[in-house]
Amino acid sequence: MRSDRRVVALLAALVSVLACAADEPPQAAEARAGAPGIGDTDFPTDGNGGYNVAHYDLAVDYTPATKRLDGVATIRAAATQDLSSFNLDLTGLDVRRVTVDGSPARFTRKGDELTVTPDGPIGDKARFSVKVSYSGLPKPAKDRANLGTYGFIPTSDGAFVASEPNGSKTWFPSNDHPADKATFDFTITVPAGLTAVANGELTGQPTTSGGKTTYRWRERHPMATYLATATLGKFELRQGTTPGGIRDFAAVDPRFKGSLDKLYKTSAEVTDYWSTVFGPYPFSSTGGVVDDYSAGYALENQTKPIYGGFVPDESIIAHELAHQWFGNSLTIKRWKDLWLNEGFATYAEWLWSEHKGKKTADAIFKELHNRAATDPIWTYPPGRAKPDDLFNQSVYARGGMTLHALRRAVGDETFFKLLKTWSADHRYGHVTTEQFIDLAQRLSGKDLRPLFDAWLFQPRRPA
Ligand code: TRP
Ligand code: ZN
Repeated sequence: MRSDRRVVALLAALVSVLACAADEPPQAAEARAGAPGIGDTDFPTDGNGGYNVAHYDLAVDYTPATKRLDGVATIRAAATQDLSSFNLDLTGLDVRRVTVDGSPARFTRKGDELTVTPDGPIGDKARFSVKVSYSGLPKPAKDRANLGTYGFIPTSDGAFVASEPNGSKTWFPSNDHPADKATFDFTITVPAGLTAVANGELTGQPTTSGGKTTYRWRERHPMATYLATATLGKFELRQGTTPGGIRDFAAVDPRFKGSLDKLYKTSAEVTDYWSTVFGPYPFSSTGGVVDDYSAGYALENQTKPIYGGFVPDESIIAHELAHQWFGNSLTIKRWKDLWLNEGFATYAEWLWSEHKGKKTADAIFKELHNRAATDPIWTYPPGRAKPDDLFNQSVYARGGMTLHALRRAVGDETFFKLLKTWSADHRYGHVTTEQFIDLAQRLSGKDLRPLFDAWLFQPRRPA
């Protein structure tokens, strides 16, 4: 009896071992699906878990007449767990084929998630490459968490591409959350006569054949997906180098022809000046793009801020270029910390005004402080930006006021040293509000917690 049971148990164990061996390699028992979100509780399905992207190689062919995009995205990544499958973010568009390390992979779509199941599991820390072939008519995203329409926006002569906070998935499969930055190569093909402008620098002369022109751009510094652009259409261009030695690239829609030199020169002047205030410029080029899509707002696309339907004044250029340090080089890990981008860029506008002998930051601060107690800048604490109202005015204005209150508390010398140390310590990395408070305390030797609490976290006007 007893020995019979042992035989049965032995046989059962043998059968399960054999079944397992026949099915999948041994480590498969540990491999799990990567999470469908990167862990930002305010945006639960943005980004994905289980891997980090190192590089996006995006080949995009766009025809304005048909509004059709044909894309091949090759993504190099490293697993952060044993992976049986993983997700990419992609909305709309048809996926034709997915390969992992050259082998065809199964894939499914659900909402904005593309789930890829390679033919075998990917081990923790393994590097792998995913290639997604896709096409279709990209549609921009719309919701209240941003300033309206964003992502890949078709225009009369091309496309306006501005994707904050999560619109990259409208035009390429990605780990669409700022917590995962990567370098980018862009190969953009458009009808001859149009120009395609992406981030970083052109890697060579555009090539034309069969009525189409291909532009190759490379951003060799880490970049959040929302800062990627492939804006295309008719453009007037000016290229050169700023007096401070940084490459400058300006593009304006023909409707704004007369403003090309102004955009080029002001971008140069601002970039050079911020380099003296915030520390060395983090990227290999600066500039800007003015398109004729009337977004009514601007976005700090890395190396090439974009201005939607208007010629920016100095103050807006100062804002978008300050983001190259605060937002683009130093990137938030979660959207709650957005004041680290917008508060700093707003304060930069005030510093620019001061620099130009116009209103001082102190005068602007005082004007704002007079706003009625019911104003959103008092009722909405900027230190925890809310997902349904991410770009609330408070994140900008009271975020900027927080920095001014800090400047008054620690004095100019410590304050400006803090700005430089902050951007040097976290260059190309990620930051949190806690880290900024810690550094401010360390450099000033003061207990600044009550100040930050009142300015960032309380729903009322600080004294
Ligand atoms: N970050 C932009 C600014 O500098 C505002 C913005 C948020 C935006 N989402 C956008 C601009 C989408 C264009 C598209 O203030
Ligand atoms: Zn901004």
